[in-house]
Amino acid sequence: MRIGVVHGPNLNLLGRREPEHYGDLTLAAIERLLRERAVKRSIKLEFFQSNDEGELVDWVQGASRRVDGWIVNAAGLTHTSVSLRDALAASAKPFVEVHLSNVYAREPFRHISLLSDLAVGVIAGFRASSYLFGLEGLADRLERDPD
Ligand code: DQA
Repeated sequence: MRIGVVHGPNLNLLGRREPEHYGDLTLAAIERLLRERAVKRSIKLEFFQSNDEGELVDWVQGASRRVDGWIVNAAGLTHTSVSLRDALAASAKPFVEVHLSNVYAREPFRHISLLSDLAVGVIAGFRASSYLFGLEGLADRLERDPD
């Protein structure tokens, strides 16, 4: 099983960016935790972070043949990006939407997601653990229902 992990804009700043919302782990530390968990389930992960919407769309298009599903923290693009939504839909691979913070306890514009209705599940508010729960949930789902 191979899963693509998509990190949107500003997530490269994790560790020093608004730790009250996002915790104090860096993106590299979160990826390490994910890799450790994935190894236990024989899952291969591919990671991509960009601050550029077009680069994210290009990466999803390119990786979609290789992966069985996606873990997506689209960050601010969650709330705005028709293009990333369309790229994920075109991939026809299941994805989990994850957020470090509880977006529903924050500003109203963060309550709107252009991805949630396409996602197989949404996890928000557990800081780095949101990614780990997303990995477990998606892997369970892919094992149960490989198509
Ligand atoms: C975020 C929540 C978004 O609203 C925000 O723009 C982010 C990170 C989260 O992980 O909590 O950049 O996706």
